[in-house]
Amino acid sequence: MSKISNPNEFIRRSKVKLIPMYRLKYHLMGEYGWINDPNGFIQFKDNYHLFYQHYPYDAVWGPMHWGHAVSKDLIKWTYLPIALAPNKDYDRDGCFSGSAIEKDGILYLVYTGHINTGDDKRRDYRQVQNIAFSDDGVRFNKYEKNPIIDDKQIPDKASKKDFRDPKIFKIGDTYYLLIGSNDEHGIGQVLMYKSIDLIKWEFVNILLKGNEDTGINWECPDIIRFEEKDILLVSAQYMKAKGDDFKNTHSSIYFVGRLYIDKGKFEYENYYSIDYGFDFYAPQTTIDKNGRIVMVAWMDMWETDLVTNRLGHNWAGAMTLPREVIKIGEEIYFKPISEIVKYRKNEYSLQDIELNGEVNLETNGICYEIDAEFESLDAKEFGLKVRKGKKEETVLLYNCQESLFIFNRDRSGVGPKGERKTLVNLNEGRLRLRVFVDVSSVEVFINEGEEVMTGRIYPDSESINISIFSVGECRVLYLKKWDIDVD
Ligand code: FRU
Repeated sequence: MSKISNPNEFIRRSKVKLIPMYRLKYHLMGEYGWINDPNGFIQFKDNYHLFYQHYPYDAVWGPMHWGHAVSKDLIKWTYLPIALAPNKDYDRDGCFSGSAIEKDGILYLVYTGHINTGDDKRRDYRQVQNIAFSDDGVRFNKYEKNPIIDDKQIPDKASKKDFRDPKIFKIGDTYYLLIGSNDEHGIGQVLMYKSIDLIKWEFVNILLKGNEDTGINWECPDIIRFEEKDILLVSAQYMKAKGDDFKNTHSSIYFVGRLYIDKGKFEYENYYSIDYGFDFYAPQTTIDKNGRIVMVAWMDMWETDLVTNRLGHNWAGAMTLPREVIKIGEEIYFKPISEIVKYRKNEYSLQDIELNGEVNLETNGICYEIDAEFESLDAKEFGLKVRKGKKEETVLLYNCQESLFIFNRDRSGVGPKGERKTLVNLNEGRLRLRVFVDVSSVEVFINEGEEVMTGRIYPDSESINISIFSVGECRVLYLKKWDIDVD
């Protein structure tokens, strides 16, 4: 059986070899093998479509395909056949990341073709932009005159190799593409192109160039336009840590500022992490038919120990819970997508508890949501422990003296360890947390989504307990827990 010609058949036959121990229940994963970035996220006709970087043949990165899944509610996904496989001269070593747009009832995918040009695959390559289209949203044809943007169309002062991850959007009658790049001297930047027909593209400008602090190359650019502010998202490779921020090897960040579309310029006031946890990269957004801005990211990180591969479970990689991006005043919030509440079952509830010390809840699980509000009173620190067992626990803690929220996975199980911290102010002494646990993931939405921390954990299947704790006195105003059950 040829690998390239029939990945779907390969997946169908191989699926029995998946080891389910760490498979998530309400997050999207690949059907088999490896996945990374979300791609082509769009609501087309009746479905949300989410494609993803996919190597079906092994649980490691390899020549990229686009896996494909659809959903009516962003929670429950159905797999469709692989949408793109690397089988043309212009994408022969990988169909890299890209995005989607609908035009006249046709779904267009814009993606990067990766082409190795020598023996050293890390250095010898070129990248071009291609399109593929579909009228049913299932079968895709690659455009016969691909590439639509050749590497010869890369301007001066931009890498001739790193030229990838096109994000398409339309303003008026014009289509725009943002493409990840660097300045050839180790500074990430975004290039902008425009077109009126999706076929002929013209370079407009370097939309934004970073600085020595913001990473050596930018991947997966994206733009969100609000009324008075715009947000530019990029995934910054090898961004330098700064205090407690940007501690991961690579960071997904957003710039807050203004897009000047005619000049092809983005002017920013400031930039921030999108997620303050361990495992969040290459986010992509879409605007759905209700006008919601929805974001999904790869819930893993390059160059870390991907446990399900190491242990031979035949899969690796998952997507975050879809998040709604909202601007309230000057602040950007990331909220869990509201559809998740449909899947809540078996409510457990506590009210008004004075807490000093640690208390195990009379409920447990591996797949649930907790919504809780704490009042600090005179506590030094307080919080929750999830996936607690004889020797394991994942700690979600608020340190009142330093105003830091901390996610600690030193004792979370067999995966990578460490701690991430982020500054959080209490609201009149109160902290609200919505915590989503799903077998091998934890996502914490702090104060209505003011900040989010995401991490993968690999605990023993018997580590199922949950506790609340406080050093000094705090009050748990309420705590509710629901199993999340999508079956
Ligand atoms: C980001 C990325 C993209 C690229 C893809 C390859 O995680 O490196 O820049 O298109 O993954 O799989």
